[in-house]
Amino acid sequence: VAGGGDDPFAHARTHQALLSDRVRTLAYRRALEAAVRPDDVVLDLGCGTGIFSMIAARSGCRKVYAVDRSAIIEDARETARRNGLDGRIEFIRAPFDQLELPERVDLIVHELIGSRFWDEDILSHVAQASARHLRPQGRLLPFRLDVLLAPTRYVSELERALAFWTRRREGFDLGAFGRLAFQQTASDALRPTNVLLRDDRVLLARPKVVYRADLRASARLPEEVTTSFRLRAGQRLTGLCAFLRVHLDGRRSFTTGPQRPGTHWGQLFLPAFEPTVVGGEARLEVTLSMATRASDWRWRLDLGR
Ligand SMILES: C[S@@+](CC[C@H](N)C(=O)[O-])C[C@H]1O[C@@H](n2cnc3c(N)ncnc32)[C@H](O)[C@@H]1O
Repeated sequence: VAGGGDDPFAHARTHQALLSDRVRTLAYRRALEAAVRPDDVVLDLGCGTGIFSMIAARSGCRKVYAVDRSAIIEDARETARRNGLDGRIEFIRAPFDQLELPERVDLIVHELIGSRFWDEDILSHVAQASARHLRPQGRLLPFRLDVLLAPTRYVSELERALAFWTRRREGFDLGAFGRLAFQQTASDALRPTNVLLRDDRVLLARPKVVYRADLRASARLPEEVTTSFRLRAGQRLTGLCAFLRVHLDGRRSFTTGPQRPGTHWGQLFLPAFEPTVVGGEARLEVTLSMATRASDWRWRLDLGR
């Protein structure tokens, strides 16, 4: 594929980032190797480089349908040929909603998890593909995504920029640039922001599961989810940290939470309106509505006794 144009998935560097994410790729590989049975027909929904198709074929399945609308699929086809697996993998360049298959499949493998969780439309794609292409006893890999939330003391880019311009530099008051920094970044800073946290000590309480998306059935997000946390005196609350647990099968899962080694997704930071130092033991009530588009997420934090 020369160039790649506007489609990020036509660029080799996008797939380099996905394949270099060892937490993600190894977890999928192990789950696929355990899941595939000799007579299985597998659908690789959004095959990209074809990595999961090749793992499934190498693990002994009868046939793989590898589907992607991106031009990257032409190189995936060539790659399967180079690896001697082209006989069992059929590459189909098509959008998912136009996919026609001659048979139902035993297993659908997919990785349509967006950096804002739902922005690659995983819920509707996987529910539709299951309804149209999966046998009644067929399996989804992954089959469930859990959303976890925790209050955090993460210091945002905006907060750091404002602190930077507040301090005198070389003996001068540069405060005017703080106003400029605020004007230029505040609207973005109030959206869910991707952050790469590598240490769960930035969390103020143990994360809680606020939503379980059963991918076979959940074609739509809930209107809102709620939870609460106990906070301690002196803790500095700057917002919420959201991340996923990806359930590949009944025994295997991985999280995108703040830890080492992390995944390429990182976490979502949902800022509080302003940072607050908790006065005494307090209860934090949280309401969250998620959406496909990051700008449509809404959340509310209420700190009470
Ligand atoms: C995150 S990548 C995953 C690639 C590969 N499965 C992996 O995990 O390394 C998602 C892939 O799905 C494809 N895709 C997303 N939406 C699609 C749609 N509606 N129809 C067809 N392909 C789609 C993209 O082009 C992309 O290659």
